[in-house]
Amino acid sequence: MDYQNLQIQHQDGIAIVTISREKALNALNAQTIQELRHFFGTDAPQQAELLGVVLTGAGEKAFVAGADITEFKDLSAAEGAALAQRGQEVFFLIERFPKPVVAAVNGFALGGGCELAMACHLRVAGEKARFGQPEVNLGLIPGYGGTQRLIQYVGKTKAMELLMTADIIGANEAHQLGLVNTVVPLGAEIETAIGLIKKIATKAPLAIAKIIETVNTYFEPGSAGFVKEVDAFGECCNTVDFREGAAAFLEKRAPNFKGN
Ligand code: CAA
Repeated sequence: MDYQNLQIQHQDGIAIVTISREKALNALNAQTIQELRHFFGTDAPQQAELLGVVLTGAGEKAFVAGADITEFKDLSAAEGAALAQRGQEVFFLIERFPKPVVAAVNGFALGGGCELAMACHLRVAGEKARFGQPEVNLGLIPGYGGTQRLIQYVGKTKAMELLMTADIIGANEAHQLGLVNTVVPLGAEIETAIGLIKKIATKAPLAIAKIIETVNTYFEPGSAGFVKEVDAFGECCNTVDFREGAAAFLEKRAPNFKGN
């Protein structure tokens, strides 16, 4: 696909995906959602050697300032529901991607931007990053999973408050609430995210994929997470990497994982 709004660079086996609509504070228009779908649904799964993905926004001001409000005018109920459905599908692709996806949040992460960051497995926030779900200011609610994922990170009490007041919080408060993993100086977001992926890349890839799958299971309605864990544990036991990891421990050496 010829990407218009995503810039994709590769560094040390890691894809750095930059949402590049700086003049609109990287707002997610339909084209950008389609490009994210293509990257996480088609491009990235074909890259066997890929270690992980860093997702960030162009410029210093915004990670992503939300869904593109200019596309909201005159939306019917059916069109609005379809828009939310399309966004949710793409964000599930990110959440279920079998390799680590880390949001490097460099500025405003509002509405769909906060939701995008929450769909990633980990979040690194620059000290000027700001988070919020201001949709009620527009007469809307979050549509890309925000009402569900915010509760997962900060609990119902704070989620209700943030969703109903539209308050925007800074990086340190987001960290205290458990919304982000770490806060770093401005400009260090991407390098920190890369460092996290490199650290994860020293572990067995199939085990990492099973962690992602099993943790996600906890949040799926009606799912049996403990049963899933038993199955995934068994599947890990059936891998070459498990034998290598156990042998390396007993032989007091570093493991050499191959991803099989
Ligand atoms: N969609 C489209 N354009 C946007 C945008 C958005 N979400 N956010 C910012 N922009 C545009 C502005 O319209 C402006 O464009 P012009 O220069 O052409 O006027 C440009 O980006 C710069 O923005 P501001 O001049 O507003 O910058 P600021 O520093 O004064 O304010 C801000 C920054 C607080 C982030 C403010 O832009 C803002 O409140 N943006 C909207 C945030 C929002 O409501 N997000 C939720 C969207 S709805 C959603 O996401 C629903 C969902 O879950 C699916």
